[in-house]
Amino acid sequence: MMKTINKKERAQRLFAENIELFRCPLCHQGFLPDTSSGLRCRNNHHFDFARNGYLNLLATRQNTDYDRELFQARREVFEQGVYDPLVTRVSTLIRDLGFTQATVVDAGCGEGSLLVRLGELLDGPLLGVDIARDGIRLAGAHNTPVMWCVADLAQLPLRESSVDVVLNMLSPANYGEFRRVLKPQGYLIKVLPGTQYLQEVRTSLGDLPDYSNDGVLANLEANLLITNRERLHYHVPIAPEIWPSVFKMTPLTEHRVTLGEPAPELTIDLEIVCGVF
Ligand SMILES: C[S@@+](CC[C@H](N)C(=O)[O-])C[C@H]1O[C@@H](n2cnc3c(N)ncnc32)[C@H](O)[C@@H]1O
Ligand SMILES: [Zn+2]
Repeated sequence: MMKTINKKERAQRLFAENIELFRCPLCHQGFLPDTSSGLRCRNNHHFDFARNGYLNLLATRQNTDYDRELFQARREVFEQGVYDPLVTRVSTLIRDLGFTQATVVDAGCGEGSLLVRLGELLDGPLLGVDIARDGIRLAGAHNTPVMWCVADLAQLPLRESSVDVVLNMLSPANYGEFRRVLKPQGYLIKVLPGTQYLQEVRTSLGDLPDYSNDGVLANLEANLLITNRERLHYHVPIAPEIWPSVFKMTPLTEHRVTLGEPAPELTIDLEIVCGVF
């Protein structure tokens, strides 16, 4: 009879297969190839796997605005297929860049749904990194062959020139660090909210500031040779019972939920920017 492996065993195997990608967040040395009792670096720093199979590689504990309730709301909204067109577009983009097999890191992956869905469409090792333990814990609950770790995207536990694609969706960025871990022919794919992103939530709350990408784009252009830039704009129908989760999935609303008459659809307006350093 075939033995079914649990999440921790699967993580041990995945990290062992890809151990060359990683470096110790404390001393920057590589890790030993035996991952059976966690990751151990050449200076003997040790990081244990959690039961869900993720690793905590954060040098110091950090507080974030993102909590379990927010990540669970995001999971629920993802499960409605709200971001499926984005996942399809990003996977096509990666293939069009010439990668048949790519090492992809999602920097600021949250609860991990984007990466899990991408993994159904792409070949190659996938790693989700987020500073929020609540997000990564939920990500680890996905039953899929993706590596997950709690870490700061400004201090990635990865070696220089180890990664083909850094994905950075609706999350803060650190371009110096992304440049360090990307291979010379590697790409950054950054997803930004457009001015009409979640328009119905903004309309309903009334007092949210208008969003502008100008500062982020100027900074991106100063750092990256942009090879592709496009807008992805669509509407998705949303069942009334999902609306509370739409409000809870973003820190913009500061935990406020004012439903009134729920709108029949939600506007997704994103900008996808792709380039090399
Ligand atoms: C709006 S959420 C987007 C999450 C995910 N990409 C998604 O679209 O569902 C922003 C994420 O950035 C993460 N984040 C913020 N600062 C970070 C840092 N320094 N290192 C890693 N993750 C960070 C937050 O914890 C949060 O999960
Ligand atoms: Zn070390």
